[in-house]
Amino acid sequence: SPLANRYRPILHYSPATGFMNDPNGLIHVHGVYHLYYQHNPDAPVAGNVHWGHATSPDLIHWQEQPLALFPDARGQAFSGSMIWDGANRSGLFPPGRGGMAALFTRAGPARQAQDLAYAATGDAQALSLFSGNPVLDEASDSFRDPKVFWHAPTQRWIMVVAHARRHEIGFYRSTNLRDWQHSSSFGHAGVLGLDYECPDLVELPVEGGGSRWVLFISINPGAPTGGSAMQYFVGHFDGQTFTAQDQATRLLDAGQDFYAMQTFANTPGRVVCLAWMNNWLYCNATPAYPARGAMTLPRELSLRQHEDHWYVVQRLPDLGRWARDSGLQKRWHHAVNGLIATVPWSSRHALDITASGQLAPGSRLRLRLSNTYGECLEAGLDNGTYPGFYIDRSGVRGFDHPFWNHKAVLHALHGPLQHFDCRIVIDQCSIEMLGMQGESAGTMLHFFDQAPEQLEVWLENGHWQNGQLQIQHIS
Ligand code: FRU
Repeated sequence: SPLANRYRPILHYSPATGFMNDPNGLIHVHGVYHLYYQHNPDAPVAGNVHWGHATSPDLIHWQEQPLALFPDARGQAFSGSMIWDGANRSGLFPPGRGGMAALFTRAGPARQAQDLAYAATGDAQALSLFSGNPVLDEASDSFRDPKVFWHAPTQRWIMVVAHARRHEIGFYRSTNLRDWQHSSSFGHAGVLGLDYECPDLVELPVEGGGSRWVLFISINPGAPTGGSAMQYFVGHFDGQTFTAQDQATRLLDAGQDFYAMQTFANTPGRVVCLAWMNNWLYCNATPAYPARGAMTLPRELSLRQHEDHWYVVQRLPDLGRWARDSGLQKRWHHAVNGLIATVPWSSRHALDITASGQLAPGSRLRLRLSNTYGECLEAGLDNGTYPGFYIDRSGVRGFDHPFWNHKAVLHALHGPLQHFDCRIVIDQCSIEMLGMQGESAGTMLHFFDQAPEQLEVWLENGHWQNGQLQIQHIS
């Protein structure tokens, strides 16, 4: 129905039909970004897992491509990753030409093992299965989601892969992508959940210099935010062993709809990721448009240090070049209680909102996307005793479920805040919020029963000084 199609995202990738979950095989080759993904092409429910494929010049506008990997007699094509082997170290490619290769999980009812596929012609559209599959099999029924990268100091390919039910991440090494040796394991750390899934290990730049390795682990179900969520550990990696530098477990996103994040291969100098914007607890029940499942916006990752604490910082891309008009721009020295701004909602654009300034202790900034039917999606900053950004979808009535949390709180690290900043992107069925220069993140889906009509920005119970507010319609 037209009502359901209303939920189709404008700025976020979603396939035309069927179901989508994890991003897979994220890679940048010859100026093109490739997004592969867990995909049921036949119905908008999980299962029958293929690898779908889409390409983009800019990580925002995607073109759907033919299916890339298929279920076979050994099982479905579960999650995995891609590498670019430009020097043909693997020997898989025609002499003198590099190519791309995928490591992924072949998932049968009783066996999960790692398979290899590669683009024999160097052409990303045509993946061939390696004839000697599986390349890594430990006779396990919960061994999946290989993420592979080239580790220059040891001149090896490294695979991180989840022993899901054992709550262990295995580290393996290879010189040819076919023969894999176990190096070490990291596990029983942080929040265990039922399964560890979709690990990623990446060296992130630290603001102000240096770098650290960060191990990301998806957990499902059992996350503190309800169902599926992601945690990370900051530490060191020597090519064989990951050592966490402290005992802290940190969540990457405080919302309920950010899972199975993967970083792109082959983006020198930048670490960019996508995540599946949903949650296993209710992903088969959310309204279809007619597909189910979308990716988050791309986010660039780095680390920030506060004394002995290290945090992953996320940045959303600058969307200004796709703005429909100059939008609303306001600056002021001092604002007191009341309505600060109003902009209309548009079903053909996403809203990109940036706000900053000094909010007096006790003040509350409220952004309200609403309609005359009494529905309201709210996001804001409560600068009380425990300052926190928040998202509140309790006033939105198009979808409900026993496991659908109504609120997310993104606590700021120090409070009350002297200065705050936040960036919010609201698409047709999602809201992504980053606070304090990307230190706090929250991602939530929302489904209005009737179309939203306007966004209002309110200040309550205080003062907002040196304020800046920008709101743009983007498509
Ligand atoms: C994570 C996950 C992976 C698995 C895939 C199946 O969301 O459960 O562990 O490979 O989805 O689609």
